[in-house]
Amino acid sequence: MDIQQIFKNNKAWVDQKLSTDKDYFENLAKGQTPNILYIGCSDSRVTAEELMGVSPGDAFVHRNIANMVPNTDLSSMSVIDYAVMHLKVNHIVVCGHYYCGGVKAAMQSADLGILNPWLRNIRDVYRIHRDELNAIEDEDAKYKRLVELNVQEQCINVIKTAEVQQAYIDRGIRVHGWVFDIHSGKLIDLNIDFESILKGIMEIYRLT
Ligand code: CO
Repeated sequence: MDIQQIFKNNKAWVDQKLSTDKDYFENLAKGQTPNILYIGCSDSRVTAEELMGVSPGDAFVHRNIANMVPNTDLSSMSVIDYAVMHLKVNHIVVCGHYYCGGVKAAMQSADLGILNPWLRNIRDVYRIHRDELNAIEDEDAKYKRLVELNVQEQCINVIKTAEVQQAYIDRGIRVHGWVFDIHSGKLIDLNIDFESILKGIMEIYRLT
């Protein structure tokens, strides 16, 4: 990708937007009221807005390696706080994807330097679900299942935050776990049972 081409693309995009609505950017500049917080992977193939078919202003987006929500990560915690407390989103989505390099790396024995502490959160997911994962003989199927279980565990991490617990009481905020299937382009809803997860963890994680 030629960097200069990006500026040409941008000019074409601006012209195209203005040709259908001359006030498009004026209106965009007025503020944002997204209803969804999307937490996804940084993978270049898994674009948030494009795969959901949403426009600028529709989704507040956070992306990192393997769509993680570690409780000591100031970035993801700040994003959740801002989206829930200030933007008042009603839905939080954690979206993983099959063939995730971060999840793959966490399934291997290798010293990856600064990536080690980040990927260790995925190794913890493996440990929690070790019996199920070790029972899967096919490596590809095991890898895909770990992607799904990682999404589920990150949804649980979202539900552990005080902001989300309070927003559930105040306005019934929902947390969703999805997987993007790179081979088909389809979004798969893991149908995370938000209510029962919430009930199951509240004995230990209730903050409100
Ligand atoms: Co990934």
